[in-house]
Amino acid sequence: SKKAIIFDLDGVIVDTAKFHFLAWRDLANKLGIDFTEKENEQLKGVSRVRSLEKILAWGNKELSSEDFEQYMQEKNENYLKYVDQLTQADILPDVHKRLEELKQKQHPIALGSASKNARRILKQMQLTHYFDAIVDGNEVTKAKPDPEVFLKAAELLKASPEDAVVFEDSVAGVQAANQAQMLSVGIGEKSVLGEADYVFKDFTEISDKVFQQITN
Ligand code: BG6
Ligand code: MG
Repeated sequence: SKKAIIFDLDGVIVDTAKFHFLAWRDLANKLGIDFTEKENEQLKGVSRVRSLEKILAWGNKELSSEDFEQYMQEKNENYLKYVDQLTQADILPDVHKRLEELKQKQHPIALGSASKNARRILKQMQLTHYFDAIVDGNEVTKAKPDPEVFLKAAELLKASPEDAVVFEDSVAGVQAANQAQMLSVGIGEKSVLGEADYVFKDFTEISDKVFQQITN
């Protein structure tokens, strides 16, 4: 049977990773906490709650649970202001082409994302119809690097983990895919995503031949 293909969303399909960074940094600065793009790598793939916990830990700060909720909401509103500007033109290079190709070849396709905004963003990008299953931050109880999100996605696709391939831009996500016994394909820097079975800077770096090898 055809390999099941699971895509992460943020930083793989669309370059929202930079918006998460900007929105978190705005908020952190308000709290008197500073963090860089390097520390931000540790927030990729990480849930909203866990992200704020990490930022507070970096700054040695604590918040009441009301303030915590309030700040998370503020971050999300700020983030969505960036997201609302996105159009189909912001789909990362070659992603649309590969989705179309996989669909043509009748591969089962799923989204496996930590984001609670995933459905909204797919819709805005007009990509929803490519996905046979969507597992996002609303369905998952154990965040990446726990394999839950990808195992759920494979289950919905009726695929066994060994027959699934995951495209991921985060360290936590690559670890989740590896733990799920799936083939992990890192999208980003080798120095960051070294644990992945394959790493490419972006989809344009994957030749037709290699893409077929990986997905077959
Ligand atoms: C992941 C992003 O996909 O989703 C993280 O890599 C983000 O940066 C997480 O924190 C949760 O997203 P959201 O949209 O629910 O705040
Ligand atoms: Mg990501």
